[in-house]
Amino acid sequence: MPRLQNSCRDSRPFDRLRAGSRLSSRAKLDGLLAATLLLAVAFSSACRLDMHVQPKQLPFARSDFFPDQRSERPLVEGTVARSQLYEDTYLYTGKISGNFGDYMPFPLTKEVMERGRERYNIYCSPCHSLLGDGKGFVPSRGFSRMPPSYHTPRLEKAPLGYLFDVITNGYGIMPDYRSQIAAEDRWKIVAYVRALQLSQNATKADVPPGQAIPSEPPKFVTPLGSGATVPVEAAPASSSGEGEHP
Ligand code: HEC
Repeated sequence: MPRLQNSCRDSRPFDRLRAGSRLSSRAKLDGLLAATLLLAVAFSSACRLDMHVQPKQLPFARSDFFPDQRSERPLVEGTVARSQLYEDTYLYTGKISGNFGDYMPFPLTKEVMERGRERYNIYCSPCHSLLGDGKGFVPSRGFSRMPPSYHTPRLEKAPLGYLFDVITNGYGIMPDYRSQIAAEDRWKIVAYVRALQLSQNATKADVPPGQAIPSEPPKFVTPLGSGATVPVEAAPASSSGEGEHP
């Protein structure tokens, strides 16, 4: 008879056999018969328990190996949490005591805006368009609900924390971008969305005093559209006045 190898680490059938010694002789006989049958089955077919029963500790399992009997070991003293310490709640929720805040959690610089524009164009423009008017390419192919334009009084007044929340948790049928976009980048997108909103309604009065207006806004012959195509610029008007009809 082949010797029992380690191939079958589940000792439960044998435990049951041992438990049999406390039972009545009739039960013992039954147990012995059952055990013989079990052994016969065990040896006739390949034992499949190899990978199923492993010498490992399951979560929250009791362990006799450590004095505190816990299989989980405490963190080494002085361990520093990295990237999972959500201490700054405003940075991660956009809320202060349950209300949306209306300021950036870090200073707004040119680099922040440029990163925001880049991330916005990657993640948001396919649906919201480069201009933020909601006429992106994806909805143009059929979408159960069109994304709204950012250029509405309600969204123009929405606090920055609210926009951050929409990106973080999604809104209606819009999916959330919590795992795809890091919190700092989500704020940078928020800053860029606000800039897009300002850009669509800016007047000369918005230019800070003493700063020259870089150029007059171009005039287009075609409607601006979704931003997915370059609008056709009107030919500059001749300044000499030649050929003008009275
Ligand atoms: C897959 C398409 C899609 C993408 C990508 C997408 N959105 Fe949206 N977004 C929508 C749709 C659709 C709605 C309207 C949802 C509804 O009303 O159910 C919406 C709504 C919004 C709203 C308005 C919420 C309100 O209160 O009305 C904001 C703000 C917004 N999205 C910002 C963003 C930003 C920022 C990104 C990029 C990080 C983004 N979205 C990416 C489809 C998208």
